[in-house]
Amino acid sequence: MKVIEWLGERVRIIDQTRLPQKEVYLELTSYQDIASAIREMLVRGAPAIGVAAAYGIALGALEIKATSRSQFMKEFEKVARIIADTRPTARNLFQVIERMLKVAAAGKDIEQIKKALVSEAIKIHSESHEADQKLSQLGAELIGNGFSILTHCNTGPLATAGYGTALGVIRWANEQGKKLKVFATETRPLCQGARLTAWELKRANIPFTLITDSMAGYFMKRGEIDCVIVGADRITANGYTANKIGTYSLAVLANAHGIPFYVAAPTSTIDFSLTSGYQIPIEERSPEEVTHIQGVAIAPEGVNVINPAFDITPSQYITAIITEKGIIRAPYGEGIGGIL
Ligand code: MRU
Repeated sequence: MKVIEWLGERVRIIDQTRLPQKEVYLELTSYQDIASAIREMLVRGAPAIGVAAAYGIALGALEIKATSRSQFMKEFEKVARIIADTRPTARNLFQVIERMLKVAAAGKDIEQIKKALVSEAIKIHSESHEADQKLSQLGAELIGNGFSILTHCNTGPLATAGYGTALGVIRWANEQGKKLKVFATETRPLCQGARLTAWELKRANIPFTLITDSMAGYFMKRGEIDCVIVGADRITANGYTANKIGTYSLAVLANAHGIPFYVAAPTSTIDFSLTSGYQIPIEERSPEEVTHIQGVAIAPEGVNVINPAFDITPSQYITAIITEKGIIRAPYGEGIGGIL
């Protein structure tokens, strides 16, 4: 299955909002299509957002009809702004935009810039895939035979357009022949765990149990969880981690039960410019995501709702951060600085 595929002047994606009921592929032909696919979460997960953004910017550049370099750059910056305006939390989105802007700025003429942007987008995708595989291999060393692992949200191929991060670690450990048990949280409100992680684990033939988010403490207390592994949307220079809402609660619970809590993410998710997790912009999404499940209302009309999509886990709750460049442990400032 190819989550995102560059077809040259078109981008093919799997529509994640239709899973697991239907496997629908769409061909997107403009950068505006890509921007709305990211905003509406047809493509989601920090690294996959980055890959889609790279292809979106390349598409946008190809669409520009300007004949002077300066006019091209003006229109290109607008493309980048529209892609940047889709979702605020994932670092990968902004890291990719910075890379693409640099490539454009270094280009001699319009044709050369367009070519360079397409190559850069393809490179970003393959580097992201490689990073997934490396961090998955490294992370699998932390997983013992017979481990029972709790994971949150969705961090597999759908979320990265590659091998996966937290789920990549689980997949690699499984491929090593380790016997594993996985607990996947449903991940309200959009149920990425129930819809997407369950779909991916089933396809990978990895034994798992789906639980609601509120059941995690119950299973930890019973001694049924050996470790927690989650992904990340943005990690600050001192190891504070923004990830899907509910991650912070799991980290505090894991800490209270003496269970290791791992964050698995490529270095493209690290925001070296931030030293406080609370500087990370937290996306707030529509109230309907809380009042409705797949279009069906579950709450009375007109109720007050607040829907932050991510939360911040302070580094003191994180046992280790697994990246493609190595496993980082506290003090995180030094470890993260060291991989720069
Ligand atoms: O809102 P989403 O579905 O894009 O959020 C995804 C997550 O929070 C993932 O855990 C994170 O992006 C890591 S993906 C490898």
